Amino acid sequence: MALRIRLHRLMIGSVLVFTWLLYLRSNMDDGKEKQIHILILTSWRSGSSFLGQILNHHPNVFYVYEPARMVWVTFPQGKASLLHFPVRDLLHSLFNCEMSPLHEYLPRNGRYITDLPFWSESRALCSPPACKAFTVDAEYDRPSCFQRCGYVPLENMTQSCKIHKHVVLKTVRVLDLGVLLPLLQDDKLDLRIVHLVRDPRAVAFSRLNFNLLRNEDLIVVRDTENWKNKLGVPNVTDVMANICTAQVAINEFSKKADISLSGFYMLVRYEDLAREPLSTVEKIYNFAGLSLTEKMKNWLYNVTHQSQPKQGSFMNFAANSKQVIQKWRGGLKHNVVLEIQEQCKKAMEVFGYIPVRTMKEQRDLNFNVMTDLKGIN
Ligand SMILES: *[C@@H]1O[C@H](CO)[C@@H](O)[C@H](O)[C@H]1NC(C)=O
Ligand SMILES: *[C@@H]1O[C@H](CO)[C@@H](O)[C@H](O)[C@H]1NC(C)=O
Repeated sequence: MALRIRLHRLMIGSVLVFTWLLYLRSNMDDGKEKQIHILILTSWRSGSSFLGQILNHHPNVFYVYEPARMVWVTFPQGKASLLHFPVRDLLHSLFNCEMSPLHEYLPRNGRYITDLPFWSESRALCSPPACKAFTVDAEYDRPSCFQRCGYVPLENMTQSCKIHKHVVLKTVRVLDLGVLLPLLQDDKLDLRIVHLVRDPRAVAFSRLNFNLLRNEDLIVVRDTENWKNKLGVPNVTDVMANICTAQVAINEFSKKADISLSGFYMLVRYEDLAREPLSTVEKIYNFAGLSLTEKMKNWLYNVTHQSQPKQGSFMNFAANSKQVIQKWRGGLKHNVVLEIQEQCKKAMEVFGYIPVRTMKEQRDLNFNVMTDLKGIN
């Protein structure tokens, strides 16, 4: 009798130990905790710098701002569909904390971390071991980081990347989710995609006021149907047509039955982030496996409620964000609005933006131009 009980206990004991080992195995890789990889997938002028900073501010996050830009700058005669492949390869390397491709893309072969464009956007690159001017728990401040960090070899980015639980990259230059399928299927990665979209009319308005995208725009339109036989510089409607089509295709791809992306894909509308920052960020953090601390909540409140952004602050996007989302209604010509609505009809429908039919509706801020979140996913 006693022996049977002992055997029984032994068996339960072994099962527990075995389960525990399995658990450890699934959470550890080479004796350390597995990393989580987040890609903010979006388009130009859609608030991704803001969302990127919201993730960047978390102490567990290693963030790289727009690495794919290096690829597009290197191949100005390229077209988006072809450049997807070097972009994917670069993202793959960076998610694995492998920095060697950067040498090929950076000036002087990338000797220092500070050769990386926009490096000071990254809190992790502004703290040890990537930057020794600050202590680990120092408050992240981009302008002072920009002045005080430097001369750390590019290779040392790897150490910085590896000590963080989350690697977050943001890109506007992936126009097709299918390209990323090998990364989603890679067992070594735990890739989660945050797809950020914005009202195409607001994007168009923002683009018209930000005239720095010409070469990029050519890369976007170069291989598409509506650009065939055209010469010169694409106008905002041509570009928006392509971008809207791409955003819809990305969303549709995520829903395909044969690749279950549930749990790996999350759709976020910029306007929801602007109107309801706290609850939207809570959802995003949850999806990303990040905890929202009291300090982060306070910081988020601060950046979304300051009417005059601090000098040199990167958060002017956030300030008065509720007004920012309506700006196009006063600023964009009605005929342009109608054109964009026509070219982006499907995107407006899928992401819940309501067309205006008249100038009066466009200007009347009581006329609602977007649906509630409800059916959006
Ligand atoms: C870069 O990493 C190496 C190897 O860990 C280390 O010895 C060196 O001090 C680091 N360099 C700087 C400037 O932090
Ligand atoms: C938020 O702003 C208040 C008032 O300016 C400041 O005292 C506080 O330190 C800020 N909190 C964070 C987390 O930035």
